[in-house]
Amino acid sequence: MELADLRTLSMFETHAQAILPPDVWAFAYGGSSSEATLERNRHALQHLAIEQRVLMNVRNVDTTAQFLDLTLASPLIVAPMGGMYRFHPDGDVEMARGATRSGGMSVVSGVAGWPLEEIGTAASGPLMFQLYWLGDRDWVAEKLQHVVAGGFKAFCLTVDTAAYSRRDRDIMLRTPGQRRGGPVPAPELRDTQSGLSWDDVDWVRTQIPLPFGLKGILTAADARLAIQHGVDFIWVSNHGGRQLDDGRATIDALSEIVEAVQGRVPIIVDSGFRRGTDAIKALALGATLVAYGRAPLWGLACGGADGVLSVLRLLNDELVIGMKLAGRTVARSLQADMIRRVDVSGFAGPAPVTQLSPAQQEVVRAVTRDPALSEVEKMWGITEALFGADVQQGERR
Ligand SMILES: Cc1cc2nc3c(=O)[nH]c(=O)nc-3n(C[C@H](O)[C@H](O)[C@H](O)COP(=O)(O)O)c2cc1C
Repeated sequence: MELADLRTLSMFETHAQAILPPDVWAFAYGGSSSEATLERNRHALQHLAIEQRVLMNVRNVDTTAQFLDLTLASPLIVAPMGGMYRFHPDGDVEMARGATRSGGMSVVSGVAGWPLEEIGTAASGPLMFQLYWLGDRDWVAEKLQHVVAGGFKAFCLTVDTAAYSRRDRDIMLRTPGQRRGGPVPAPELRDTQSGLSWDDVDWVRTQIPLPFGLKGILTAADARLAIQHGVDFIWVSNHGGRQLDDGRATIDALSEIVEAVQGRVPIIVDSGFRRGTDAIKALALGATLVAYGRAPLWGLACGGADGVLSVLRLLNDELVIGMKLAGRTVARSLQADMIRRVDVSGFAGPAPVTQLSPAQQEVVRAVTRDPALSEVEKMWGITEALFGADVQQGERR
């Protein structure tokens, strides 16, 4: 299947699953142990509905976001992910290339498999670096020199990894494979993350003159401490449900953190965000930026940088369409009162993926590639191809 044939977010996910080896899919898709946190992230988002206002003249929508001294065209960014070489031969480089073309920002994993300078050169927009503390202070200081050389705009320390979780899907399917990445620290230094404390935060923020934040904050108490220790931003995350099992959903923790932070520093949130409307909820509740992990990863697997860009475009389209249909025009001014807590019984679940026969796929391909057709004509061409030419004009709504 070619990239142009993947027209919805669920098609990207389904196709990624089909083409990736099962162990690679499991590594990315799964969460820790019982996967309660993974599921809770989605359920908590589904418990929130967006209020619909009409007749608000929403012709022009402004999605720009202000993060530190960066003005981004979009508040949707890509979260750091290790092991990208398993999803594309040029993993981290392609991810940075595709993500920075979308108008947002990309965050490069501390265990990226390519030299940071090479990733920096591929990017056409701002990059942040994510640090895992995997050695002694000399090891960290040396790593951060490369962050400066790579032209990164900010860096964050991931703090929700005091232990490496047990990820059952990954454990069941893992096969010994080759590892790609920078020099691995000596075994006695690998467990240094469990010994980290706020003193280390104080030390690391003095190491390079870049804005610095903590990724993995989930309580108001830790957000207050982070600010006392001088962070420039806070990243609300539970690692996409991959670390603490049976933890809270990030969208549930967001409001109390926003209240504790009182606008003093910007807030990034991630974990469980799959659609553009999910971002509307987070922005309205006070996030500055919303990070997506697995969604752009499926794009990378399906089509490298172009696949990442396609997924981010779909997410940004959904953000804009959702804002228009909710009667809002400025993404950075969305307010919490547009979000309502609702009962989710009867929720339809994920969008269905239509399995097309080869003949139907052929018709869809021809229609979508016909330059003479408008987007609406293409849509109806596809509908007729799938459900028959007897779709009546009057049913088109
Ligand atoms: C395959 C994979 C690898 C990840 N690697 C890292 C990493 O190297 N550093 C990090 O801070 N977070 C890592 N994460 C967590 C993401 O940065 C992010 O918090 C999470 O994926 C967001 O949730 P979502 O995937 O539901 O969007 C990883 C996530 C995935 C799916």
